Amino acid sequence: MKIKNDLLLKTLKGEPTQRPPVWLMRQAGRILPQYREIRNRLSGFIELVTTPELAAEVTIQPVDELGVDAAIIFSDILVIPEAMGVDYEMIEKKGPSFPNPIKSITEIEQLTFGEDAASKLEYVYDAVRITKRELGGSVPLIGFSGAPWTLLAYMIEGGGSKTFSKARKFLHTQESAAILLLDKITESIISYLKNKIEAGVDVIQIFDSWAGILSPQLYQKYSLPFISRICKEINEVPVIVFSKDAWFALGELGKLDCQAIGLDWTVSPQIGRQWVGPEKILQGNLDPTLLYADGNQIEKAVTQMIHDFKGKHIANLGHGVYPDTPLENVKCFVEAVKGFKYP
Ligand code: CP3
Repeated sequence: MKIKNDLLLKTLKGEPTQRPPVWLMRQAGRILPQYREIRNRLSGFIELVTTPELAAEVTIQPVDELGVDAAIIFSDILVIPEAMGVDYEMIEKKGPSFPNPIKSITEIEQLTFGEDAASKLEYVYDAVRITKRELGGSVPLIGFSGAPWTLLAYMIEGGGSKTFSKARKFLHTQESAAILLLDKITESIISYLKNKIEAGVDVIQIFDSWAGILSPQLYQKYSLPFISRICKEINEVPVIVFSKDAWFALGELGKLDCQAIGLDWTVSPQIGRQWVGPEKILQGNLDPTLLYADGNQIEKAVTQMIHDFKGKHIANLGHGVYPDTPLENVKCFVEAVKGFKYP
């Protein structure tokens, strides 16, 4: 189906546009009262994720309400650990928790992986198919997965953490187990993303949310090669790689077989371009807390950002929008981008 608003797809092909496309990481859920309303009717987050009709509905809400140039499928990066046999719970106001995190290589040897894991995620592919039908070609649909390292971090740590010290310790003390686990996660992600593409997503984003807590040496060994393998395998649609806080790896990320690199707000557009190199599209990167400031400040910062990126740019925040961001400010951010015209 032809996509009417093709700003994002054009930008990812390197074609010129009148302004950058705009969407927000974590736009589905978190900020919209319509999301809360549906969410509160259910037993919890996981019920929403596993009910395709509702997942499709909350995917489309921000497109209607905010006027963004892309939808991102409502799901979570943690569906992959679950499909591999490591169940999670989502605890209100606390976040994810794994009752039985991985401790040993024996447990890793027993995990489901590859297509066997991916085939358990039929509810995600159904949500993609329903969303595509309901979007009716209005905007492209982004599918996503966590990066292997970020998923390993949750599976070993057992939940969120400021330092993920258990997961980092695992890399240093159980090297071959870590590599085996990363291999199995990577194989699962590749099958999963291919199925999502088959179901209809137009773009893929890889979230390496915990890239920045690794030393450059650990990142080189335990994160980058696995992302690289995914990028080499996914050729059907454009791929955006977002390795949060991995400024030290921007040069290497620039050489990946992907179309775009996401930047967090700790890197200026100029430095980002210099380190990533001239080829790739850059995505980002306003500090999400800027959306607590007043409308004038938001507009000024958006204009400055777009100027600084100088094209080949997808406007976004430097990480997901925070849950208590005033909706009117999110709209102001989107409108400021949409009001911009490249000289
Ligand atoms: O971008 C979108 O709007 C699509 C939906 C989406 C969710 N999670 C829904 C969600 C996406 C892309 C994710 C990815 C995700 N999940 C990441 C990578 C992105 C990032 O922010 O770095 C991570 C690290 C997770 C793991 C996760 N899921 C955490 C830490 C939490 C709890 C806190 C929170 O709100 O992020 C979740 C739960 C979650 N995933 C919610 C939503 C809307 C909130 C749960 C609720 O409604 O109660």
